[in-house]
Amino acid sequence: FCDWSTEKEATLAIIKPDGVLGNHTDAIKATILQSGFKISREKIIQLDKDSASSFYAEHSTKRFFDSLVKYVTSGPVLVMVLEKENAISDWRALIGPTDGSKAKITHPNSIRAMCGTDVEKNCIHGSDSPQSAQREISFFFDTSTSQWFALPLQSPIL
Ligand code: PPS
Repeated sequence: FCDWSTEKEATLAIIKPDGVLGNHTDAIKATILQSGFKISREKIIQLDKDSASSFYAEHSTKRFFDSLVKYVTSGPVLVMVLEKENAISDWRALIGPTDGSKAKITHPNSIRAMCGTDVEKNCIHGSDSPQSAQREISFFFDTSTSQWFALPLQSPIL
């Protein structure tokens, strides 16, 4: 799952509603660029209940699922494709742990320490594996002309 000409990897980032509405977008983007990522695609969208449920389908049996869907549909989100070498794990490291309140203590330089509030309102998303990154990028963007995909493409859900 990479651009073979440059050895780059792509991952999906989402600035969630609390990040967008809390005016954290500029600071997050500055951190992204300072950390060596290229923002190759981006769009602001409003997720509806069906699309959010589909995006988070792997968590559909979790107790927090309904709450998570309600939260990510509560306002606009900024969806981005980030590229660099080792983008997937480097982006996960940069955003920090799931719980924003704990991130402030254990990972004070992380993005969730900057703008996350708790385990739900954690302001940012990152793909957790190459398989997730491929699925999630295809979910939001037309990847039919992309060179990133070494694995067979899945059908975009949207
Ligand atoms: S898990 O259970 O280990 O898969 O959970 P985790 O990877 O930490 O989180 C997966 C996504 O679910 C969100 N999440 C929650 N939302 C609301 N309430 C609670 N309690 C909760 N716990 C986890 C979490 O923010 C993750 O969202 P994304 O967008 O993938 O970061």
